[in-house]
Amino acid sequence: MASFCVHVFALSFLASFCNSVHSSALNKHHVALFVFGDSIFDAGNNNYINTTNDFKANFRPYGETSFPNATGRFSDGRLIPDFIANFAKKSSVKPYLAIKKLNGGFINGVNFASAGAGSLDGTNAGLVISLKAQLGYFKKVSQQLKKEVGNEGSKKLLSNAVYMFNIGSNDYSNYVLNSTLLNAYTQNQYVDMVVGNMSTVFQEIYKEGGRKFVIVSVGAIGCVPAARAANFRQTVRSECVEILQTLAKLHNQALLKLLNNLATNLPGFKYSYFDYFQSSIDAISNPSTYGFTEVKAACCGSGPFRGDPSCGGKRGMPFYELCPDVQNFLYFDFVHPTEKSNHLSAISMWDTSPYVTPNNVKSFFLPY
Ligand SMILES: *[C@@H]1O[C@H](CO)[C@@H](O)[C@H](O)[C@H]1NC(C)=O
Ligand SMILES: *[C@@H]1O[C@H](CO)[C@@H](O)[C@H](O)[C@H]1NC(C)=O
Ligand SMILES: *[C@@H]1O[C@H](CO)[C@@H](O)[C@H](O)[C@H]1NC(C)=O
Ligand SMILES: *[C@@H]1O[C@H](CO)[C@@H](O)[C@H](O)[C@H]1NC(C)=O
Repeated sequence: MASFCVHVFALSFLASFCNSVHSSALNKHHVALFVFGDSIFDAGNNNYINTTNDFKANFRPYGETSFPNATGRFSDGRLIPDFIANFAKKSSVKPYLAIKKLNGGFINGVNFASAGAGSLDGTNAGLVISLKAQLGYFKKVSQQLKKEVGNEGSKKLLSNAVYMFNIGSNDYSNYVLNSTLLNAYTQNQYVDMVVGNMSTVFQEIYKEGGRKFVIVSVGAIGCVPAARAANFRQTVRSECVEILQTLAKLHNQALLKLLNNLATNLPGFKYSYFDYFQSSIDAISNPSTYGFTEVKAACCGSGPFRGDPSCGGKRGMPFYELCPDVQNFLYFDFVHPTEKSNHLSAISMWDTSPYVTPNNVKSFFLPY
């Protein structure tokens, strides 16, 4: 039995608490949720690192739809992992840096995502928790779980857990803005590095016992308000930025191929791939079908399409506008979706939809 349990054995009420933790983790129906990625998934980890407000959202109006205080989530409310946890009848998983001090409480899973993070270590280096560093934290949690629920318990917990990823957008926005990178790598070479690093991380988690992977594709990153604003300022056109759309498509093709390979070569490896790119394009093409009236401009921000990252007034730009009707908007700020948009994405991922393949997320939470 784990050392924590041995420690408290003398106190019978603590010992029985210990046993109940132990057996609930062994419960067949217990599915922990581990979340990795960038601002689309960050529930507040960046509140605890030394970074700038460019990579933080722990101030109003962020969170105003659903939280009494801003949490660090880059939206007016809940994120995709919050809805997935809710559909699975679990509570939201907490930011790793918020609970690691408590030295435990990882049985439900935990969120490692960090706004601004990329698959490449160089992306926003020093200001974010890179994917590699997130993997390092996960390995610590894996060790901690052995103490909490024992070797057998943690093995079961990790193999039955769900691992969710949203990563890559920041690697590509960095690429198109950085002439050193543009000169050093072709688009395909760069995509291969980004997807290659993701592959390493998936395989490391597999080695720790992970089997059920939920992967969100790179979305329509050329169509976000910040991209349209940049296009407008350069060309006076408001279309999506072509090079970002191309990179997203190349990335997603390579990613799907990788996932197919892993599922073929690693026994028990299962995945659910969400085509965030196509679902975003469909919402942008047919807003009313999804209950939106504004799919180009952000609710919160300034400049063309409110595409400047001024929402909240704390990123060196004190002036910003805030729409009164956020439920009509696809985007809350310069690049991030509204809670309503996150809810629709989570619904698409959870059950059968044209955007999820080959497994839906619900199947990963069913009793096995
Ligand atoms: C955080 O970063 C600032 C600016 O780079 C630096 O001056 C400060 O010492 C850092 N603080 C910590 C705790 O690392
Ligand atoms: C919530 O925000 C208010 C005002 O912004 C602040 O006074 C209060 O301390 C915050 N509460 C928590 C629990 O952080
Ligand atoms: C561009 O990328 C290179 C290579 O990763 C990096 O050293 C450099 O700091 C980047 N430049 C800017 C302006 O971010
Ligand atoms: C990711 O790619 C970088 C190159 O940008 C490399 O230095 C790093 O070791 C890679 N990390 C992983 C986990 O593969």
